[in-house]
Amino acid sequence: TTQWIKAIPLADVPDEDVIAVQAGDHEIALYGVEGSVYATANLCTHGNARLCDGFLTGHEIECPLHQGRFDVRDGRALCSPLRDNLATYPVRIEDGMVFVAL
Ligand code: FES
Repeated sequence: TTQWIKAIPLADVPDEDVIAVQAGDHEIALYGVEGSVYATANLCTHGNARLCDGFLTGHEIECPLHQGRFDVRDGRALCSPLRDNLATYPVRIEDGMVFVAL
């Protein structure tokens, strides 16, 4: 069953940038892109790097360690050295709060 976890106020999601939040026992990266909010796992699928320390360009987050890039909308790995896609999570905005489905 889907569990919606209250993450942070919508106002705290940075525009065109990424922020890490704790949702239950998951560490999630939230991205503000052109007025929408996307959520993915925060840990890179390639190694021990946190995507909240990476660089967001449009819908692409670049890992700070080896510059692998993921599409934050569907978690797709876009280039080497990445092989595995990133987990993504549905996002809901309600009463000015961001909820993430785990
Ligand atoms: Fe992210 Fe290597 S740890 S690309």
